[in-house]
Amino acid sequence: MRVLVTGAAGRLGREVVRAFADDGPVFGLSRIALNVADRKAVHAAIASCTPSLVVNCAAWTDVDGCEGDPQRAQRINAAAVGYLREAAEEVGAHLLHVSTDFVFDGKADVPYPEDHPTDPLSVYGAVKLAGEAAAGPSATVVRTSWLQPADAPGMVERLIVALASGGPVRMGDERVACPTFIADLVPVLRYLCEERVAGVVHATNAGPTSWFDFARGVATAAGLDPGRVVRTSDPGLDGTLPARRPLYSALDNAVLRSLGNVTIRDHREALAEAVARAVG
Ligand SMILES: NC(=O)c1ccc[n+]([C@@H]2O[C@H](COP(=O)([O-])OP(=O)(O)OC[C@H]3O[C@@H](n4cnc5c(N)ncnc54)[C@H](OP(=O)(O)O)[C@@H]3O)[C@@H](O)[C@H]2O)c1
Repeated sequence: MRVLVTGAAGRLGREVVRAFADDGPVFGLSRIALNVADRKAVHAAIASCTPSLVVNCAAWTDVDGCEGDPQRAQRINAAAVGYLREAAEEVGAHLLHVSTDFVFDGKADVPYPEDHPTDPLSVYGAVKLAGEAAAGPSATVVRTSWLQPADAPGMVERLIVALASGGPVRMGDERVACPTFIADLVPVLRYLCEERVAGVVHATNAGPTSWFDFARGVATAAGLDPGRVVRTSDPGLDGTLPARRPLYSALDNAVLRSLGNVTIRDHREALAEAVARAVG
């Protein structure tokens, strides 16, 4: 397999590059190496690398930044996906594009299956949804949520430091979604690429939760006092941030289950392992 990964310096991109490293050449292109919003550059890179698979991990993920510059958000998160699609088609490469739970309005109270109507609340959600359409019908479009890094300090490590320093740690208890550990997600992305699964696929760790409960889970697993985690309202719901966030955006991995029962473990198991690594 010849794999081209865009956004290769990002949280997910770094791990995708690693995951495919044993399969043949992997062209991991950071934003500096390939600006996906530059159509000519996208065509040139794909024509020169001739990949059999393109994994688009590039995105402008600053949700509030997107709210302030919708044109830029559209260029990077939507139009660019169309450039990747047309260039991938020219060399017969499969495209896997990564999308988000922010395509939903958050009014549900059970996890959203893939075929649930979308209704984004923010510019970021809207342009990511446009990116899904731009990926085309034969691409794999993976929606995921609350990504937890595999190779760098993330929320788990920050929480441990904050909890260990003794003070109260204020965490929102209203928004609910599925934290997804990148180390658990990447094998699923590989499987979907190998099978060239077409269409939208939800892929998150199991177990919807709030940041408040997530933080309490980290405290307990680290042997620290969960009582130090204090409920607060979620920024993004109370109008203090430019972009609105969905209240409830847990995803139901319905398509994965239908594809030979591919499951992703409960986030609490992954959380316990991440804590053990961080404190051990
Ligand atoms: N993080 C989450 O919780 C989350 C949740 C749901 C879905 N997702 C989706 O998952 C995917 C990966 O996200 P992530 O968490 O890995 O984000 P990330 O760490 O912000 O990585 C995105 C990468 O894309 C690069 N990039 C930005 N503009 C670009 C451009 N014009 N051309 C090429 N590269 C560009 C960024 O480079 P610079 O940093 O140099 O700008 C960054 O390295 C995205 O599609 C995102 O929408 C993420």
